[in-house]
Amino acid sequence: MIRPAQTQLYAVIGTPISHSLSPVMMNEAFNVLNMNVVYVALEVTNLEQDLETLWRVGFGGLSVTIPHKERALKIASDLDSSAKAIGAVNTLKRSKNGWQGRNTDWIGIVRSFQERGIQMHGKRVLVIGAGGASRAVIYAAKQMGAGEIVIANRTYEKGVEVAEEFECEAIPLDDVTAGGEFEVIFQTTPVGMSGYGDDKLPVSSVILKPGSVVMDLVYNPVWTAFLRKARKLGCIVISGLDMLIYQGAAQFEWWFGMPAPVAAMRRVLQKVTKAEQNDDKGNFTIR
Ligand code: ATR
Repeated sequence: MIRPAQTQLYAVIGTPISHSLSPVMMNEAFNVLNMNVVYVALEVTNLEQDLETLWRVGFGGLSVTIPHKERALKIASDLDSSAKAIGAVNTLKRSKNGWQGRNTDWIGIVRSFQERGIQMHGKRVLVIGAGGASRAVIYAAKQMGAGEIVIANRTYEKGVEVAEEFECEAIPLDDVTAGGEFEVIFQTTPVGMSGYGDDKLPVSSVILKPGSVVMDLVYNPVWTAFLRKARKLGCIVISGLDMLIYQGAAQFEWWFGMPAPVAAMRRVLQKVTKAEQNDDKGNFTIR
């Protein structure tokens, strides 16, 4: 039998995982609170078997990322309604008999808006993409009282499927410019990610109107070409780093039952990503 005798063990599991920023963020949180906890990144390929091993070794909680979030939902016990609706679990917590599951991705989105005092109520929303991240976004937007939600996906049929499930609209990605005006735009595809068409825009910039809110879930780079363009055109921009911070904060709070040191988590991520300076509220805003 192996058990942690002093230091509590936590991890992010996924594949590939070597570039994850979660260990830097979480270990900073533990450091500033003087907690005897360590958080590591673990390459996990055989989810069922590896989760069993991690439970036996004594891990207290796990962040779950690509490609395991949907499968983790099936393995976890004690799910809440948001994890079920989104169809994915990004957080596991040790219980006596196995792993409890939650989804904090949608909380990360809600808090990214709340912390900036941005209202979603009644707004017309565009969601680019119809994958796992998109489902968390749609759920969050609905929780915040969004008005009409329109999904624009490359594979139109997939967009329609998700739209039917969440009772919203779908349009082909190529027709997005004919879709009317949007007050909030979420970018959930990998387009713009480093090594994935860095300076490519997922949609024409024609849809970017001054005063609208644009959030890109990509955080590598922190300021994608899409967000830079949006800001130039007078939009309010939110980086995927905000979601990373707040979904992590919600994980921390579920695991330990106390507030996460969000400012310290933000500071360390800003340092390691060399992100452009924030505004006076501590947000990642391009000046
Ligand atoms: P995630 O969990 O990060 O959302 P995913 O479930 O694989 O990942 O979903 C990826 C989304 O990005 C999909 O909506 C995908 O569109 P398709 O349904 O057509 O595959 C979208 N996507 C991926 N690459 C894209 C690209 N080059 N252009 C436009 N959309 C893209």
